[in-house]
Amino acid sequence: MRAPAKINLHLGVGAPREDGYHPLVTVYQAVGLYDDLTARQAADWSLGVNLPDWMDDDAVPLAGDNIVDRAADLLAAHHGVERTGEVHIAKAIPVAGGMAGGSADAAAALVALDRLWGLGTTDDDLLGLAAQLGSDVPFALLGGTALGVGRGELVTPVDDRGTWWWVVVPSDTGLPTPEVYRHFDKMFSDAPSQPVPADALLEAIATGDTWALADALHNDLEAAAIDLRPELGRLIERGEEAGALRGLVSGSGPTCVFLCGSADHARSLAADLSGAGHPVVLAANGPVAGAHLVSYA
Ligand code: C5P
Repeated sequence: MRAPAKINLHLGVGAPREDGYHPLVTVYQAVGLYDDLTARQAADWSLGVNLPDWMDDDAVPLAGDNIVDRAADLLAAHHGVERTGEVHIAKAIPVAGGMAGGSADAAAALVALDRLWGLGTTDDDLLGLAAQLGSDVPFALLGGTALGVGRGELVTPVDDRGTWWWVVVPSDTGLPTPEVYRHFDKMFSDAPSQPVPADALLEAIATGDTWALADALHNDLEAAAIDLRPELGRLIERGEEAGALRGLVSGSGPTCVFLCGSADHARSLAADLSGAGHPVVLAANGPVAGAHLVSYA
């Protein structure tokens, strides 16, 4: 299975609800940066993870409380079957980076184990299980470009005929999502209960014009992420000076993304930022498909 990272093109955040979650109006886009998950039959349950050198090993929980363990438990309980299988994840999506890497793995695990265990779970049930695992997991199943409301788990596809190019700059240390939301609450204690709507962003997508999209990008968590990590503000300035149409924090950060006008533009900006002391700089386009099967043996 292959599952993509996401960027929030629009992230409107309201004051916390009674359950502690924040109401969101968000537009997700799946971009071509993927974690790969392999599942094989086995008598017991095991989970292994491979990380590229630039990722921090300790950032991925592996003592049985990985989101993939929870996805497997939930699917097994839903059908009353045993949790078995040998699952392996090759990570490429930055960990704790604001790109929903864990959510991508959970979505891939739901689809892979449904197939491995021969369950034939309906799409609606898969989306329901995904929502229990995390706010971003239903989108990781859907992919493409989609509007998310509720706490982000209620997703509807958006017609997006563009191919948008992004440069992605991960940080070497992750930023826990709850910490960024808590900081948002401290900085914006007067946040309205209704999040900023996504109309301008949706209109920009419909035009297919990259400058229109650049103008409409919006992230209410950006100020909180930059306040926690001031270097992100400097990175965004640096990328925009180097010619990005727009730079912004991805979701709760600390990954920053830069919108470019073409594949060549993205490659040259990536080279420029790599030269400027950022050890890992990636280029990716979106929208791409959600969690999908690559090969079946
Ligand atoms: O839904 P998920 O488990 O991915 O969320 C992780 C954390 O992010 C939550 O525990 C909460 O602190 C924060 N969150 C939030 N409002 C949302 C989504 C996430 O406060 N809509």
